[in-house]
Amino acid sequence: MDYWVHSSFCVSSIAALLLLLLLVCDYQVVVRARGDESSSSCDFFKGRWVLDQSYPLYDPSSCPFIEREFSCQKNGRPDQIHTKYRWQPLDCDLARFDALDFFERFRGKNIIFVGDSLSRNQWQSLTCLLHSAVPTATNNVTRVDTVSIFEFTDYGIRVMLDSNMYLVDIVKEKIGRVLKLDSIVGGNLWKDIDVLIFNTWHWWNRRGPSQPWDYVEVGGQTSKDIDRMLAFQKALETWAGWVDSNIDPAKSRVFFQGISPSHYNGSEWHEPSAKSCVGQKEPLLGPYPGASPPALGVLKNVLSTIQKPVTLLDITNLSLLRKDGHPSIYGLGGRTGMDCTHWCLCGVPDTWNEILYNFFL
Ligand SMILES: *[C@@H]1O[C@H](CO)[C@@H](O)[C@H](O)[C@H]1NC(C)=O
Ligand SMILES: *[C@@H]1O[C@H](CO)[C@@H](O)[C@H](O)[C@H]1NC(C)=O
Ligand SMILES: *[C@@H]1O[C@H](CO)[C@@H](O)[C@H](O)[C@H]1NC(C)=O
Repeated sequence: MDYWVHSSFCVSSIAALLLLLLLVCDYQVVVRARGDESSSSCDFFKGRWVLDQSYPLYDPSSCPFIEREFSCQKNGRPDQIHTKYRWQPLDCDLARFDALDFFERFRGKNIIFVGDSLSRNQWQSLTCLLHSAVPTATNNVTRVDTVSIFEFTDYGIRVMLDSNMYLVDIVKEKIGRVLKLDSIVGGNLWKDIDVLIFNTWHWWNRRGPSQPWDYVEVGGQTSKDIDRMLAFQKALETWAGWVDSNIDPAKSRVFFQGISPSHYNGSEWHEPSAKSCVGQKEPLLGPYPGASPPALGVLKNVLSTIQKPVTLLDITNLSLLRKDGHPSIYGLGGRTGMDCTHWCLCGVPDTWNEILYNFFL
């Protein structure tokens, strides 16, 4: 479904080859249409986790740049079964992530993850998936403002991360830091990028010292606080407007990462004695007994109003089943911490990226 690759190839071709190329492109359009049919009949996000000894897709010790936060094995997590699960959709098979194919497909392209630490989790997974397959491929990691740039120099592929917790702007003013739900100047960084994967949610309920703003502004009104779910919705609407006015679908493909779930309350998966995810070694078979996060409904509503094509990476349900996938006491805080929000690497975000990859086949 990489039509954009073929179409730019056609445009830049010389006149003598035009007829031949038209035929070739026609053929590719037909193939693409057929591909769309088959993918629309298969929902990648409905399925189950199956044990597969050929997983994980990489050895985390061969990926030197996984941050300590996600390095569960290095931090002493003893059980490894959680790395051996593959996501199996109900109605089709996912193609296994193929890093060499990925390098060829995305040669010269820019990919950006925009969002909070869950975006960082997925970004690191993708760089590991690529690096571990071709460890000799030279790479270069730099940082410009909020953007970390991981470049595979041999292929001219840049896999970037814009650390941006709310998507909309936080502006320092005289009264303090103002979260501006109608303003998305930060979006100037995202123009003309080939693949964009957005995400925001986990910071919307932050209060107290870790809340990185003092006032919230919407519709010309500034206040100390507003309903957080409404604030989330307003920000998504601003982002949706940005997509509609700035994305050229012939050049860019837009995804939303979806809502990544946490596991702090065992009652949700019928294990009331579990006060967190610690000691969880296996996924749930599904369907998940607990409720869907309300933020997902808000997100889906806003996505349905966007004119430009945006694909939801609807990873909530499949990740809800992975109570075993979090760092727990093998994360940033170590034995005194309890991280049931982020995901171990290797781990669940590798599956998010495997599904992302399948959208391009
Ligand atoms: C996720 O689960 C909810 C509630 O069980 C269900 O309504 C929804 O269709 C599921 N979505 C997917 C993509 O499986
Ligand atoms: C790494 O990237 C930066 C920014 O693009 C560039 O200035 C630098 O020359 C690159 N270094 C290497 C070794 O390619
Ligand atoms: C845990 O989940 C159950 C069931 O959804 C709910 O009744 C309970 O209040 C939750 N406990 C906490 C501490 O959030």
